[in-house]
Amino acid sequence: MTDLGTPASSREELVTVTIDGRPVTVPAGTSILRAAALAGTSIPKLCATDSLQPFGSCRLCLVEVAGRAGTPASCTTPVAEGMSVATQTPRLAKLRRGVMELYISDHPLDCLTCPANGDCELEDMAGAVGLREVRYGQEGASHLDAAKDASNPYFTFDPAKCIVCSRCVRACDETQGTLALTVAGRGFASAIAVSQGEPFMGSECVSCGACVAACPTAALTEKAVIEIGQPERRVVTTCAYCGVGCAFVAQMRGEELVRMVPWKEGKANHGHSCVKGRFAWGYAAHRDRILKPMIRERITDPWREVSWDEAIGHAAAEFKRLQATHGRDSVGGITSSRCTNEETFLVQKLVRAGFGNNNVDTCARVCHSPTGYGLKTTLGTSAGTQDFDSVEQCDVMVVIGANPTDGHPVFASRMKRRLRQGARLIVIDPRRIDLVRTPHIQADHHLALRPGTNVAVLTAMAHVVVTEGLADEAYVHQRCDWDEFQHWAEFVALPANSPEALEASTGVPAADLRAAARLYATGGNAAIYYGLGVTEHSQGSTAVMAIANLAMASGNLGKPGCGVNPLRGQNNVQGACDMGSFPHEVTGYRHISDDATRTAFDAMWGVTLDREPGLRIPNMLDEAVGGAFKGLYIQGEDILQSDPNTRHVAAGLAAMECVVVHDLFLNETASYAHVFLPGSTFLEKDGTFTNAERRIQRVRKVMSPRNGYADWEITQKLSNALGYPMAYAHPSQIMEEIAALTPTFAGVSYAKLDELGSVQWPCNAAAPEGTPVMHIGGFVRGKGRFVITEYVPTDEKIGPRFPLLLTTGRILSQYNVGAQTRRTANALWHEEDLLEIHPHDAEERGVGEGDWVKLQSRAGDTTLRATLTDRVAPGVVYTTFHHPDTQANVVTTDYSDWATNCPEYKVTAVQVSPSNGPTEWQESYGAMTRRARRRAPAEPAE
Ligand code: SF4
Ligand code: SF4
Ligand code: SF4
Ligand code: FES
Repeated sequence: MTDLGTPASSREELVTVTIDGRPVTVPAGTSILRAAALAGTSIPKLCATDSLQPFGSCRLCLVEVAGRAGTPASCTTPVAEGMSVATQTPRLAKLRRGVMELYISDHPLDCLTCPANGDCELEDMAGAVGLREVRYGQEGASHLDAAKDASNPYFTFDPAKCIVCSRCVRACDETQGTLALTVAGRGFASAIAVSQGEPFMGSECVSCGACVAACPTAALTEKAVIEIGQPERRVVTTCAYCGVGCAFVAQMRGEELVRMVPWKEGKANHGHSCVKGRFAWGYAAHRDRILKPMIRERITDPWREVSWDEAIGHAAAEFKRLQATHGRDSVGGITSSRCTNEETFLVQKLVRAGFGNNNVDTCARVCHSPTGYGLKTTLGTSAGTQDFDSVEQCDVMVVIGANPTDGHPVFASRMKRRLRQGARLIVIDPRRIDLVRTPHIQADHHLALRPGTNVAVLTAMAHVVVTEGLADEAYVHQRCDWDEFQHWAEFVALPANSPEALEASTGVPAADLRAAARLYATGGNAAIYYGLGVTEHSQGSTAVMAIANLAMASGNLGKPGCGVNPLRGQNNVQGACDMGSFPHEVTGYRHISDDATRTAFDAMWGVTLDREPGLRIPNMLDEAVGGAFKGLYIQGEDILQSDPNTRHVAAGLAAMECVVVHDLFLNETASYAHVFLPGSTFLEKDGTFTNAERRIQRVRKVMSPRNGYADWEITQKLSNALGYPMAYAHPSQIMEEIAALTPTFAGVSYAKLDELGSVQWPCNAAAPEGTPVMHIGGFVRGKGRFVITEYVPTDEKIGPRFPLLLTTGRILSQYNVGAQTRRTANALWHEEDLLEIHPHDAEERGVGEGDWVKLQSRAGDTTLRATLTDRVAPGVVYTTFHHPDTQANVVTTDYSDWATNCPEYKVTAVQVSPSNGPTEWQESYGAMTRRARRRAPAEPAE
């Protein structure tokens, strides 16, 4: 894609200029460099690139402007009406050659062996300006001996090749917002410095790669490019990690992936990335990956490698046997938020049509199921209301129960940019997340509430809005059910819901809460961004509805810059929910009991669907322990590690007679499996993912599946073996079926996605190019519905035995249960899960920094090391859940959201005490896992 040199101007007024005699019309504010590029004229440049503000340091882009003295830099000079510009004159050629000569005289002359050879702007510019010889020798003072920094596992910094153009510094400031780089020194001594002159690794750099992408030379280069060589072909695809859904160009050399470069045209990421999507893809070729199917009679037996036919035939025969013996409802399936929409759709189809029941569920059960329930109830649809670009028009951001810099890093960079431009920030979180105080950003309010009190805080904010007359009644009158609003307004106005009355239970000073509520209601466009810190509670659905109430009451829905925005954790959690993965809903969130909907599916699928909702994951496990549920097909999920109360999950799995795990690795759940079907990575298949802003994007196959088949092919094989035929030749045909069956997807096709790059559902006749912002002009459900949100404290109470509250979260370098990221160099940043504890609580318990501690709850105990920090308030402890050795979910309880069963991960009463070794459970679990992963010796070849 052509680099136009400087960013586009957002001004509407147009001006016409003449460049080398050719007229061109561009928006006012456009640089001469960009106008020339748009006119097809390439002006030499080095320090400018169209993703960054111009800097004007290299002096290579000089031009002559008629009627003006001198030779201004075209990157920093805006066009003016009637301007006449010459870009190629003998004077300019001489000046440019002089500039290049100086650069090259202090640059290694090793182009032929340089890893960037063929992809170096310095090399290109030397050619473009016609530099043939360099008059200055390299024997004088130079930077050629400067030491390389290879500390980062993914890229190197070679100062000898640096031209101090500061593109990296600006990328770190403008694009990433970390401000880790600077130009230190002056004149000849000027050089790029990381933090306080530290190596990259160990500095505040978060390894997003923005500086590497921006560098015009080989000074910052991916290590994979150095090792493998320059790529030969490129394929646009979508990141398989988080719900931001960054688009990447996978750059390949043969069948080997050389690098993932964020795609500038990606509408979710606009050319930015984080360390996971950019660099952490090595797991695809990790030695732990299982590439051959395996079966075993009992989970105590070693695994035996078998052919695909044998594995599929065995699984199908077992499911049939179980249904024949224990009834149709004795088996079920779990879809994956990491797999494509098409794969997820097929798994639920296999369950509903192949098994003949609705026992299908998804990992969204344990994260955003309350979002689905809460937003559908209040607004009429189970999804975030805005696109990410909407943040550009936001004046007040509320971040509640989310940690975007770690969980959704690329969107966090967008938020930070908007905040640096002056938007105001309210953070509602028990922990002082990075966004509260980060370079050039300071939250206006951090309401450090006690875990489990979201509903109380949100209702108290609504109390302030209503009782201080800040509600947008005209909006409510027009858009919402007025009687319900009045009923709700009376409820929130009750003295019991005032910030003062709730201060004791929430721990939030009433004055702070009042000020935050006033800012939200009166500060202009206000958007709420929330995460699992809202949903994973016994009142998760209530909190989502409280958020929707607040947004409706203040008129902050249905226009850019506002909205209710769930930040989705996994790459395709939105898609998994959209695709009918819940036991009570088919695609597009239509209830299975709806006759008209079922009739359409019956006709298309040639079956009669059961009208009764099936079992949710926790119910499947309960029924398994009770003896009625016997077989489970799990695609791409590790429920043993990700679901609460690990011992109960283990007991449920152990009670089943046929557990089929379909995954990349022998994950923790596979210890209880009888059949293992090797999965394919996102690099090895075609399909689509849907991100947190409802954006459907293509996943494209960049290499052949190392396991032999894409996941959708494996599900299809299993369905055929079960006797329910499927005959798709390509995932595009599956999308055609989804579109035919789902009104909100009716206009989606691979051809449209290829043409537009991506679309946001609803995409149909009413919105042929998709819907960036929902509820414009009216809510999907008709009148917006206010719901009473009574605060009911969780049953999980602290007391003398368990006096602290544990809450959990993620860290930037790791992803979810860590199965992928732990198998990459990202492990260097986070080798183990640590327990954050306030120094006061630590001192009371005789716990020091780095000490091993026992973390104990009513459900179980585990050990991990402690780190002392005032990020958490006294009385609160925090840990991540990326490492199976820690098994944080051994400690979490069975309490769950009243509406959806989403587990209450975020509130567990615990005790912390010094420890000197693993718990009994950890030891026995470790031994069991080692036993469960044994493999029988391969049979000798015939
Ligand atoms: S990798 Fe990202 S955070 Fe690190 S220095 Fe470069 S731009 Fe900044
Ligand atoms: S490292 Fe690259 S981007 Fe940064 S100043 Fe040097 S040449 Fe420019
Ligand atoms: S922000 Fe999310 S989608 Fe984007 S690169 Fe990182 S992990 Fe991938
Ligand atoms: S590109 Fe304009 S001064 Fe460097």
